[in-house]
Amino acid sequence: MAERAGPILVFDSGIGGLSVLDAIHTLLPTRQCIYAADDAAFPYGEWEEAALIEHIVRVMDGLVEAHAPRAIVIACNTASTLVLPALRARFSIPIVGTVPAIKPAAGRTKSGVISVLATPGTIARDYTRQLIQQFAADVHVELVASRRLAAIAEKLLQEDEIDTEAVREEILPCFIETENGRTDIVVLGCTHYPFLIPHMSAVAPWPVDWLDPAPAIAQRLATLIGNNRRIAEGEGFTLFTSGASAPRPLAGMLRARGVPVASDQ
Ligand code: DGL
Repeated sequence: MAERAGPILVFDSGIGGLSVLDAIHTLLPTRQCIYAADDAAFPYGEWEEAALIEHIVRVMDGLVEAHAPRAIVIACNTASTLVLPALRARFSIPIVGTVPAIKPAAGRTKSGVISVLATPGTIARDYTRQLIQQFAADVHVELVASRRLAAIAEKLLQEDEIDTEAVREEILPCFIETENGRTDIVVLGCTHYPFLIPHMSAVAPWPVDWLDPAPAIAQRLATLIGNNRRIAEGEGFTLFTSGASAPRPLAGMLRARGVPVASDQ
């Protein structure tokens, strides 16, 4: 059967979803990806739930209409833990979400102590609690809401600047010692955070595994749409919902990833 063409739409509130885009490129290098950053609404982490669902559905309506994607990847935990049912009910396109990797972390921990580091929105979600009940009932799961890390990652990617002391303060609550053992895995429940791994490792009280779900998401996408490398599609691009163009360090990074900003092309 001939495979339906069309770009893969990778969506996040900002540029954190590039961590997922990288994993998609590794697995599906010949596919065209459109990276859409809803920077006009960043950060999603503190939005009220009903308003965020309505907002994302509206933005996605416009993106689907304009780009007719072959598949959608919601490269954002804060959005995925909330809006996937509404999007799946609305579009008959394969949709892959990004949710905290609690199940693999619970399977892998040796100490039985894991932390989930995510935005306040993701930490507060029923969805996150259900993941814990379902897959990590016998593990100590420390939920850590970070108000600042997503913005810190944006600043790093956009301006190549990092506030190391702020990183230290944000990650510190992840490091706990119980009578059984201490945290050995930190689940990165926000797609912005993998870009901060070297900076987080440098200030961590002890070494941990930082669990990035991106490779598993790319794998799920490949399972859904196939990884036929003979399908060679055009160059991808990035669009910002604010209409902004990228500051210099980021513009170079996007070009190197094959997704230059649409308005810079
Ligand atoms: N990248 C988003 C996530 O994975 C969150 C950033 C934000 O607060 O908008 O949760």
